[in-house]
Amino acid sequence: MRELLRVEGLVGGYGAADEILKGITLSLPEGRMAAIVGPNGAGKSTLLKAIAGILKPKAGAIALAGVPLAGLPPRAIAARGVAFVPQEANVFPSLSVRENLEMGGYLEPRGRVAARIEALFARFPVLAEKRRRAARTLSGGQRQILAMAMALMVEPRLLLLDEPSAGLSPKAAEFLFDSIAAIHRDGTAILMVEQNALEALAIAEDGIVLVDGRVARTGRAAALAADPDVRRLFLGGAAAEINQGEEKETT
Ligand SMILES: Nc1ncnc2c1ncn2[C@@H]1O[C@H](COP(=O)(O)OP(=O)(O)OP(=O)(O)O)[C@@H](O)[C@H]1O
Ligand SMILES: [Mg+2]
Repeated sequence: MRELLRVEGLVGGYGAADEILKGITLSLPEGRMAAIVGPNGAGKSTLLKAIAGILKPKAGAIALAGVPLAGLPPRAIAARGVAFVPQEANVFPSLSVRENLEMGGYLEPRGRVAARIEALFARFPVLAEKRRRAARTLSGGQRQILAMAMALMVEPRLLLLDEPSAGLSPKAAEFLFDSIAAIHRDGTAILMVEQNALEALAIAEDGIVLVDGRVARTGRAAALAADPDVRRLFLGGAAAEINQGEEKETT
């Protein structure tokens, strides 16, 4: 399968803490979906920000279909087909659903915007129903779907999702994961960071376990979800267990 995203030896962080990511290497084939799981503070969000260009890496390479991205500004990376949905502040609360989608498509040729909006309304009927409502009146789950739909306005080759199910009820999270699975079935490659590790691994093909700025494990999502070590350390274990696990790994 052809490689879409390649991250090689990526090092980066914030200001003086410039080595939050301590050398990340990973690969995502065209059209594939990978779930990134791991403890709080592991650097999951930092990794997505680096790929999206919000954070300039200190070292390492990022390439999309062989074209280098590291160091480019976010807008240039978006123009090459990478769409990023951050965890928070990912919609314009006072704008209507439809206006939010227009904002998502602001880089698109004018003539295409209406057609894309119609396609997304067909894909997500809940957005069509609420098209005139302000985004702030949507439920948390509906807002996350709107945020993803905004990102899909440009038909990205790669969709980066940071904790899409955060703060949602189990029922809303289930609906959201179904929607993400549908986006993936439509052919979009997805790299998704999730706290709900089991649910994420259930809809993804690949899994990446990130611990302390490093890739601790990778593999088929189903195999990782079934692995007793992974289950104990990352899927429902208390923070103390995770720390013990880290110590065990280094000894
Ligand atoms: N803007 C920032 N400035 C400085 N340090 C930051 C900033 N954002 C995150 N960090 C630090 O970088 C490290 C990794 O944070 P990151 O948000 O990438 O973790 P995460 O794996 O996404 O965690 P969580 O599961 O809590 O979302 C943490 O130690 C965090 O305190
Ligand atoms: Mg995070």
